[in-house]
Amino acid sequence: MNSFQFVNPTHIVFGEGSADQVGQLASQNGKTILLVYGSGSIKKTGLYDKTISLLNHAGLTVHELPNIEPNPRLSTVNKGIDICRKQGVDFILAVGGGSVIDASKAIAAGVLYEGDVWDFFTGKAVIGKALPIGTILTLAATGSEMNGSSVVTNWEENLKRAFGSPHTYPKFSILDPTLTYTVPRNHTVNGAVDIMSHVFEQYFSLTENTPLQERFCESILQTVIENVEIALENPEDAAARANLMWCGTMALNGGLISAGMANDWASHGIEHEVSAIYDIPHGAGLAVIFPNWMKYVHEERIDRFVQYATRIWGVNPEGKSDKDIALEGIQATRDFFTRIGAESRLADFEIGSDKLDRMAEEAVRYGAIGSFKRLEKQDVKAILELSL
Ligand code: NZQ
Ligand code: ZN
Repeated sequence: MNSFQFVNPTHIVFGEGSADQVGQLASQNGKTILLVYGSGSIKKTGLYDKTISLLNHAGLTVHELPNIEPNPRLSTVNKGIDICRKQGVDFILAVGGGSVIDASKAIAAGVLYEGDVWDFFTGKAVIGKALPIGTILTLAATGSEMNGSSVVTNWEENLKRAFGSPHTYPKFSILDPTLTYTVPRNHTVNGAVDIMSHVFEQYFSLTENTPLQERFCESILQTVIENVEIALENPEDAAARANLMWCGTMALNGGLISAGMANDWASHGIEHEVSAIYDIPHGAGLAVIFPNWMKYVHEERIDRFVQYATRIWGVNPEGKSDKDIALEGIQATRDFFTRIGAESRLADFEIGSDKLDRMAEEAVRYGAIGSFKRLEKQDVKAILELSL
């Protein structure tokens, strides 16, 4: 295990009815609020009316930024920054999924920065301060509710980039699993794939002697596998939705489950390049890329793939080579994604080979990616070719 530091300052309020506390929690953090949300799901479910009423009741002034896109746009973030400056906003409340939360973090950092907020995504500048943000999460997927990361798309340049900062952890996040009952089938699937992928990025590691972290990872994978089909069968299954939600938050919250381990994150880098051009949902892209990344890299550390196959998928190792066991585990992953309804090929999104070169080039723009196996441009291209 490597040396590490771990801090996570986000106050989690979990459980049915927890959104009732939003007025009180928000008023501890600010007076003039920017309420950020997506393209309407919170209006349909009544969460919008309820939130406005609770914020008003707490004596807060509310401004709004609706229509955050899935794969949020830099142009929309800039709109939010303008509103905050004009209205003297001192607290941002994100109500939605990862896209809404990520846009809110970018706005929070951008308001207090004189330059272009995109500088934080290109590495040209480092976030020194940000407005406080809080969240009401409506979709189990990204972990953005308890981490400092934001992923934004510069649509004009077809670039999707991330930042991570200790200044953009939410002050609080309200996690009411019943708010995810209305998440459509495809986004429930995409969320489950994203959660599992966050675990993969940490679990497939070259760091030795990390049994606790590996079991943390395996417990999340098993819990998602056990619960997602229940939620798909019955979207209002309270236990399944609660388990998925907590898995999402635990899978990516500043490195708790992989403290002291090298992380990989190459598959996320590759997927972001696909979404940057084709605007496909993040989880849907990962369902295509990840099994192919596994095929491409498994020989770097076959024992971890053998452990994965046997512990997660119950592959019987008797009489088989390590490679065969590993490949069975990878196939079981692919089969599971397919069974829950995730696509398996880029062609399913009408993505052909014409932009593979550009995607591979951008993925390694700042150098080789990944730590399990360092991937150069030709490796990224090979994984994309396997994914066609
Ligand atoms: O826009 P609305 O109307 O709210 O609809 C959304 C959206 O269409 C809908 N939805 C959300 N909650 C719902 C609901 N529909 C009905 N009922 C509800 N309760 O779901 C759709 C997808 O929402 P989105 O926020 O885009 O999904 P997700 O949470 O998967 O976020 C994806 C974004 O997060 C980034 C991705 O790249 C992508 O841009 N990521 C952020 C990370 C982070 N901050 O740590 C890490 C991830 O790896 C990821 O890259
Ligand atoms: Zn992800």
